[in-house]
Amino acid sequence: MEKREERYRGKAKTVYGTDDPKFVIMHYRDDVSAFDGAKLAKLEQKGETNNRFNAYVMGRLAGAGIRTHFVRMLNDRESLVKAMRMLPVECVVRNVVAGSMAKRYGLEEGMRLPEPLFEFFLKSDALHDPLVNDDHIRILGWATADEIAQMKALTHRVNAVLRPMFSDAGIDLVDYKLEFGHPLDDPYGPIVLGDEFTPDGCRLWDAQSAEKMDKDRFRRDLGNVIGKYREVATRIGVPLD
Ligand code: TMP
Ligand code: ASP
Repeated sequence: MEKREERYRGKAKTVYGTDDPKFVIMHYRDDVSAFDGAKLAKLEQKGETNNRFNAYVMGRLAGAGIRTHFVRMLNDRESLVKAMRMLPVECVVRNVVAGSMAKRYGLEEGMRLPEPLFEFFLKSDALHDPLVNDDHIRILGWATADEIAQMKALTHRVNAVLRPMFSDAGIDLVDYKLEFGHPLDDPYGPIVLGDEFTPDGCRLWDAQSAEKMDKDRFRRDLGNVIGKYREVATRIGVPLD
């Protein structure tokens, strides 16, 4: 597979084309962003840490029969993935109240939910990813009723795989965000996970101490961001080098 032109530069990753239109390369940079791009920095070793973390988690998800865009890691900072047409919504599952949910409903961070709770957000930095419901998505044409059902089912299935994986390492999976789409080579087939899973897009708390081990360390200026990402990686068994 040959690397070609830069296609898209996101806040933390750059997408490159390849000589096969059905595949693209995800390059994990050292950039970190929060609050929809309002807070930016570079963190040494972030790119390689997240690339390896993601490759490991994608392997665990594939092992559980969850369809993902991931093909294989190419080098320290790059992975080959299927080219996708993404649905413009973000899927969040929460096991514990934190972040925007705590703020929106005036709840204490750390309240355990009696069952995993699903939320949709519209993917738009300019609008700060507003909360939306099934009707917004279906009636405004962002996704069909069937795609909505599949996104919910798959996001919950990911929880069923990853929550015990983290819990076995003494870590609570508090919440996470996922995005889905259709691979270009199967535009009418079932939807596929087209996103990374790294500590950038989830909340992970040490089960004993409740210490934050995810991107909230950067959002809230807690320091040692990548040190904690790498500690999580080591605890769940990600080979870091
Ligand atoms: P929130 O509490 O800010 O709504 O975020 C819930 C979870 O989803 C949290 O783990 C962070 C993640 N997330 C992202 O990674 N990117 C996003 O744009 C949003 C809205 C959430
Ligand atoms: N992922 C978004 C950003 O990079 C929001 C966040 O994580 O706070 O700005």
